[in-house]
Parts: sequence; structure tokens; C-alpha cells
Amino acid sequence: KTYKIAAIAGDGIGKEVMPEGLRVLDAVSRRFGIHLAFTPIDWASCDHYQKTGQMMPDDWREQLQPMDAIYFGAVGWPATVPDHISLWGSLLKFRREFDQYINLRPVRLFEGVPCPLAGRKPGDIDYLVVRENTEGEYTNLGGVMYAGTDREIVIQESVYSRFGADRVLKYAFELSQQRARKHLTVATKSNGIAIAMPWWDGRADEVGKAYPTVTVDKQHIDILSARFVLQPDRFDVVVASNLFGDILSDLGPATTGTIGLAPSANLNPERKFPSLFEPVHGSAPDIAGRNIANPVAMIWSGALMLQFLGHTDAHDAILRAIERTLIEGPRTPDLGGTATTTDMGRAIAELI
Ligand code: NAI
Ligand code: MG
Repeated sequence: KTYKIAAIAGDGIGKEVMPEGLRVLDAVSRRFGIHLAFTPIDWASCDHYQKTGQMMPDDWREQLQPMDAIYFGAVGWPATVPDHISLWGSLLKFRREFDQYINLRPVRLFEGVPCPLAGRKPGDIDYLVVRENTEGEYTNLGGVMYAGTDREIVIQESVYSRFGADRVLKYAFELSQQRARKHLTVATKSNGIAIAMPWWDGRADEVGKAYPTVTVDKQHIDILSARFVLQPDRFDVVVASNLFGDILSDLGPATTGTIGLAPSANLNPERKFPSLFEPVHGSAPDIAGRNIANPVAMIWSGALMLQFLGHTDAHDAILRAIERTLIEGPRTPDLGGTATTTDMGRAIAELI
């Protein structure tokens, strides 16, 4: 089988880390005899918006629907294109219209990467954040009334459905069940968000009945965040609503040294639509154009893509090469080194 993959670099460092991701995927697919056919796409970028007034062409769905996966860099920047336009005009459309309701974000401390948390060693930080990716706090339901007057009012609704909550909770329970520790943390805020979050906790109880071997621990998002820093070894799988999961999945990687390592998978587990694999980080305007971005998040996201396509051996080979490179170098500046994006990507590809 030949897998059809759309390669969308996007903006800023998305354009710099994408070639390294492709380099590593090329190496690993030759080693394991996997056939990947890439379609490079230059839309879903602010460049495209500035040329056409749209983030994507009208037929974007028709172009992407036949793909087996989407490999995505980062979108957003320059500042003349507001973030809500770039994000809602591309990535959030993919997540919603391709029903990628799982956003899976592994967090792991690697050997060779200095940990900002005192006394932590590899093994102490190794968990998965499962973020609900299609509803919750990220909706465009609402509006502004009496705009521009001193009576201005703004309302933006949060939306949780039984269908949407149950499917992400089920995924998280199943994932927990497959892991050695079988421990699931459910992020909540049932003391403050007094309607939706007690309901969410109730759905977790209900869905959890089918998984008696999984231990469950509900934690309010505020103390949960503190524990990501103070007691990261408590966590195995963490399931959270869209906003809580978004925040946790930047905080988690920050405790492992740099956000430049953190990958993510936006999954439609039923495979009715293509899933999307991308680094957690954005386009990083502050370092863009200098070839110093860490390519590991992009490369690891490629590994997650191959794993989802059924090639666990190729995923593992990429992870081993990343692990070794983080120990031996070369390292980009966010890891305390002086290597370029290209140096690091080449080193990982050569190990494969
Ligand atoms: P960001 O993730 O782009 O950058 C945050 C900080 O982390 C910056 O200091 C940056 O230099 C650093 N950083 C990020 N990736 C790095 C890497 N690979 N290597 C080394 N350092 C790295 O987040 P920010 O600044 O909030 O957003 C910048 C733009 O990116 C905005 O337009 C935003 O909307 C967009 N964005 C896009 C995302 C996506 O496409 N999935 C996700 C987050 C932000
Ligand atoms: Mg984020």
C-alpha cells in the first residue's frame, strides 16, 4: 500500500521543521519498506491568505479527504494576519470538519535534556495528555451586543455533548487500560464551573464502569496544573476538555525542558477522515528564519503518524534515534546547543 500524505508546512518555523520531518520519514520508510507519497501543500498559510484573502482554497476538503494523513507544521504569522483568522481558517477547520476529536499529546523527559524541575530524572515524567478536540470551550457560538458602547456585552458559549464527552473518555480509558500503570486522571473544575464540570465528572464515572482495571483520579485543573510541576510522576494518562487540555499540553512539555520536543496527533480513530500530525508548538516568530528551531517535535509527530498507520516498528526506530541524538547531540539552542535545525534533523535521519 502507498500512503497518501499531505505535507502542509504553514508559516514561520513550520517551514523550517517540515523538511527535517520529511527527511526522517524518508529515511525510515526506506529502511522499513513503507511507501509514502507526499503532496506538498503551500496553502493553509498566512502567505496564501495575503495573496488570496483566504487561508485555504474552496476545495480544500476535496483535496485532503482522499489523504491517509496530514502532516502539518504550524500556522500563524506575520502579525498582519490575526491569529483567530489563521487558526480558525485552517487547523481548527481540519480538526472539526475531519472530526479529529482526539488530540493526543505525549509528554516525556528524555535523558540528556536538562529538566527545569529540580531532582527529576527520565522516567519521572512520562504521561499522555488526551485533549478533547472538537467542542468544549472552543466554539464560535456567541457574539457581541451593544458593541463600542459602555454597555458592551460579550458572550461565548462552551458546549459539551454526551456524544462528544463519552467518545473522548472512552478513548482515554482504553489507552489507560493498555498501559502498565493503568491510571487515568480526569481534569475537572466542578467546584467553579458548576454545571458543565459535575456533568463531565458524571460521564467519566459512567464510561469508566466498563474499565474496572483502570484507576481513576479526578483533579481540579488548578491543582492538577500545580502537580504537573510538583509531582509529575503521579500521571499516566490525563484526559481533559479542549481548553484545559490545550493548557496542560504546553505546561507538560515545558517541564521536560523545551516545547520544541512536544508532538501531537489529531485523530479520527474511526478513520472516516484523515488524521493530522503536528508539533504542539506554533510558528515561533521570535526565532523564525534563522534555522535554529528544534525539529524533534515535528519528527516525533511523524513517528506518531506512522504508528497510527500501523507501523509501530518505524515509530520505535524514530524514537530510538531521537533519544540517542538528545544524549549525544547535535542540539539546537533551546536544548543548550549551537546546532541548526538541519544539523539535528540530519543527525536523526542518519541514525535511522
Ligand atoms: P509558539 O509555540 O510559536 O512559541 C512559543 C515559544 O516557544 C517561543 O519563544 C518560541 O521561540 C519557542 N518555540 C516554539 N517552538 C520551538 C521549537 N521548535 N524550537 C525552539 N523553540 C521553540 O507560540 P506563540 O508564540 O504563542 O505563537 C506564535 C504563532 O503561532 C501565533 O500566530 C499562534 O497563533 C501560532 N500557533 C500555532 C499553533 C499551531 O499551528 N498548531 C499552535 C500554537 C500557536
Ligand atoms: Mg496550544
